[in-house]
Amino acid sequence: MRLTAICVYLLGILRFSDGEFRFASYYGDHMVLQRAPERAVLWGFGPDDAKVTIYLSGQAAAPAVSVFTGIWRVTLVPVQAGGPYNVTAVFQNQSITLTDVLFGDVWLCGGQSNMAFTTSQVFNASEEMALASEFPHVRIFMASLEQSHTELIDLAGLEVPWSVPTGGMDVPLHFCCCLHLNPFDCWKKRLKIV
Ligand SMILES: *[C@@H]1O[C@H](CO)[C@@H](O)[C@H](O)[C@H]1NC(C)=O
Ligand SMILES: *[C@@H]1O[C@H](CO)[C@@H](O)[C@H](O)[C@H]1NC(C)=O
Ligand SMILES: *[C@@H]1O[C@H](CO)[C@@H](O)[C@H](O)[C@H]1NC(C)=O
Repeated sequence: MRLTAICVYLLGILRFSDGEFRFASYYGDHMVLQRAPERAVLWGFGPDDAKVTIYLSGQAAAPAVSVFTGIWRVTLVPVQAGGPYNVTAVFQNQSITLTDVLFGDVWLCGGQSNMAFTTSQVFNASEEMALASEFPHVRIFMASLEQSHTELIDLAGLEVPWSVPTGGMDVPLHFCCCLHLNPFDCWKKRLKIV
């Protein structure tokens, strides 16, 4: 049983790891990473035994780590709320950069059908949506609704990649409804909604 579990796990890694040097799918430009006192985690894929270093706008943000079974994983030093930063992962002469990254609070939301409730469905929707561009420090991200019978290493797909709110943007704000907040109280609190 345990061996089966390990095999499924390894198959999961192989499915996503092709040795190409990259971040996991849910890291992207405009994202928010968890601020201090927590230590944000970044991870991705690469060729085995490669040494990966992460830089925040040019400053090394953690000791180098090695790629193991196709995956690298770095825990950053604690970073106070703020930004923007460029986050760069470097391995030998290759580098990949995520731009306009903020440090702040990360909220992970999950649930049933109410979670698909969007801003356009709230009272005074057009007024609320017009306010979105006033809150550029709130960043939105949504994973695809994909079902899997085995544990996945990375997301199967992205519904909404990391985005800066723009006027008229219609985003899932279900999370605010669950907390019984006015949707834009969320913006005002500068939360990131995943
Ligand atoms: C991030 O990189 C871009 C493109 O190289 C550059 O224009 C920008 O100034 C950089 N931002 C920071 C905060 O380092
Ligand atoms: C990195 O170095 C290798 C070997 O020296 C070379 O073949 C490759 O083209 C270089 N890649 C980049 C992105 O410069
Ligand atoms: C809708 O907007 C109007 C005018 O700004 C306001 O008076 C009313 O309270 C709002 N309704 C809701 C449910 O937020």
